[in-house]
Amino acid sequence: MEDNMKDIVDRAQLNWGQLPFDYLKTDAHLEYHFDGEKWDEGEVVEDDRISISMASTCLHYGQECFEGLKVFETKDGRVQTFRPQENARRMIRTAEKVMMVAPPEELFVEAVDRVVKLNTRFIPPYGSGASLYIRPLLLGVTGTVGIKPSKKYLFVVFATPVGPYFPTGLKPVKLWVEEEIDRAAPNGVGDAKLGGNYAAGLRAATAAKAKGYAEALYLDAREKKYVDELGAANFFGITKDGKYVTPQSPSILPSITNRSLQEIARDIGIPVEHRPIDVMELADFAEAGCVGTAAIITPVQSIHYRDHVWVYTGADEVGPITKKLYDTLTGIQTGDLEDKYGWTREISVD
Ligand SMILES: Cc1ncc(COP(=O)(O)O)c(C=O)c1O
Repeated sequence: MEDNMKDIVDRAQLNWGQLPFDYLKTDAHLEYHFDGEKWDEGEVVEDDRISISMASTCLHYGQECFEGLKVFETKDGRVQTFRPQENARRMIRTAEKVMMVAPPEELFVEAVDRVVKLNTRFIPPYGSGASLYIRPLLLGVTGTVGIKPSKKYLFVVFATPVGPYFPTGLKPVKLWVEEEIDRAAPNGVGDAKLGGNYAAGLRAATAAKAKGYAEALYLDAREKKYVDELGAANFFGITKDGKYVTPQSPSILPSITNRSLQEIARDIGIPVEHRPIDVMELADFAEAGCVGTAAIITPVQSIHYRDHVWVYTGADEVGPITKKLYDTLTGIQTGDLEDKYGWTREISVD
């Protein structure tokens, strides 16, 4: 592949086109401390181990949350990220749900810029399909055995180069509708990006994979009647008359990518419905997809529910509306298309 980037002279020697969605240690991360009153300036740390009390509330009582966003190189060698302010706001909302203190929006966004500048060698080249994934992590670090909110917090931001979450990329995946295990309760914390939600989904995801499916698709926990989301992505369907339909539910994570996609869809003339989706309505969709930062847009080949198998597309096909949405979203993210929304944020890496 031709390397278009002029500025990154010592880019890491990695097989950029084949990167898994996994952790690879990079040059440095940032650690910001909240001492009970204020956040510090943040420290650059090369070692990827952190030092916290073994009695920290994050370890025992789940005061831990995170975010995930991506950084892309453009064709002309610029570096940009996608809507980092939205991730900052979501971390603030998540933190409120479990009585944590989140970093202010400006600190969060500045930390993203900073960690990218520390790890420019790991920004995948334009056209590789890979990106630099930024993982902001917030931990309650007061040592206590009592169940109470931490006073002190550690905000860690690291960067690691990744390929798509589903190794198939834009190739369709098969989903399994999970009925035994709930991911999140209706009035619980399913709409927050807390580590515990992901732990709760591990059994279902592992079982689905063992059966040959890419992921479990969860139903609402109250009635087991409506589609919620996947373990790490929102769900959408395209109706036969060309509408974009995506679940509304109190227990799913409000996806920034999904919200962006809804805006793009409306702008290109695709009507959007954000409403509960009865699981039996899955039978009627013409196309279906998974959407999120990590999943990007992953088309769904088929969904298995009880003794139904609903097929949307062949093993190597992508439905026309899904493809159009994918091209538009990734075009904006990688700078190939004009960003009329102001979603991208350029990071100067000189
Ligand atoms: C449970 C869950 N749903 C949806 C998403 C997609 O959200 P976003 O588009 O903001 O990355 C993610 C990934 O972040 C997720 O973990």
